Amino acid sequence: PKRIFSGIQPTGNLHLGNYLGAIHKWTQLQDNGENVVFSIVDMHSITLPHDPKELNDNVLKMTATLLACGIDPKKSILFQQSTIAMHVQLCWVLGCITTLARLGHLPQFKEKSQTLKNVPLGLYIYPVLQAADILLYKATHVPVGQDQVQHIQLAQDLAFKFNRTYGDTFPMPRSLVNENASQRIKSLRDPSKKMSKSSKDSKSRLDILDRPDELMEKIKKAVTDCTSEVTYEPEERPGVANLISIHSMLTGKSPDQICSEVEGLNTGKYKLVVADLVIEKLTPIREEFSRLIKEPAYLQEVLKNGREKATEIASDCWYEVQHKIGFENDI
Ligand code: TYM
Repeated sequence: PKRIFSGIQPTGNLHLGNYLGAIHKWTQLQDNGENVVFSIVDMHSITLPHDPKELNDNVLKMTATLLACGIDPKKSILFQQSTIAMHVQLCWVLGCITTLARLGHLPQFKEKSQTLKNVPLGLYIYPVLQAADILLYKATHVPVGQDQVQHIQLAQDLAFKFNRTYGDTFPMPRSLVNENASQRIKSLRDPSKKMSKSSKDSKSRLDILDRPDELMEKIKKAVTDCTSEVTYEPEERPGVANLISIHSMLTGKSPDQICSEVEGLNTGKYKLVVADLVIEKLTPIREEFSRLIKEPAYLQEVLKNGREKATEIASDCWYEVQHKIGFENDI
């Protein structure tokens, strides 16, 4: 059977890259009646120093944000990762069949570890925990942005290795990447980088909860180039191409179609078109968020129900894994 799993870290605000790269797809799958499980992966958010109070607040904030984006707890299972200990238990089992070389080659690890003198072990095994998230629910499809594809490949490798060693257990999880976003949404300040929660410059990203005037200002200031025409050339003109990608993903129109529609506009005027579209899309989400964040008891209830439903699925899998690796017990 088809099962969709995906996760998001509760760090900072959701930005447009997360939304267009992943969350939008989550809501589509949910609304198509698929069997969907989504997790707020707080354990993934402590690999680097963090503020406990902030993390705690951010879990509820992310819950409200996801609901405001259209995740419906009646149709989707939404839960907080750290409330189900089996994620860590399966992570250990998978860690025992993972090699150091395999993890050391992952680009995200290389990138992040380069900036640190002392690299925490958690940063290194982060993708193994992610594989455990996916496999614990026997997920067949994982909707993510392009930047996560290598991590899903690791989950595939580990599923394959586990199955070969202990007998058929896990289906092969496949990543579902939004085709229009095969290129990731880029930073507005430096289009050679992806739009990211961890960037210190908040002008580099469009947060889902930004006010219309902030969105307008950031898009107006987005780095482009000296050519005034609007053309889609991701290599030569990454800044303009990024605006077109955003436009394309918001409307479902192809970049070519967009370029012919806006022929005659210069990039300055074109920015206003994109800004209007972004504002139109995000305004109802921001309003729904403001309503939901005032209902913490409701948000807790959503996570509690999600935890119960997720635990049922996870327990079946973990029971099977225990049996296969020789952890059987009658206690
Ligand atoms: P995270 O929290 O960094 O991002 C959540 C989702 O947003 C996508 N994304 C982007 N897509 C397009 N353009 C961008 N600039 C951009 N930035 C982020 C990400 O690809 C992701 O889909 N390791 C994961 C969380 C995770 C997970 C999992 C995902 C933990 N366990 C199991 C899937 C399955 C992460 O840090 O995503």
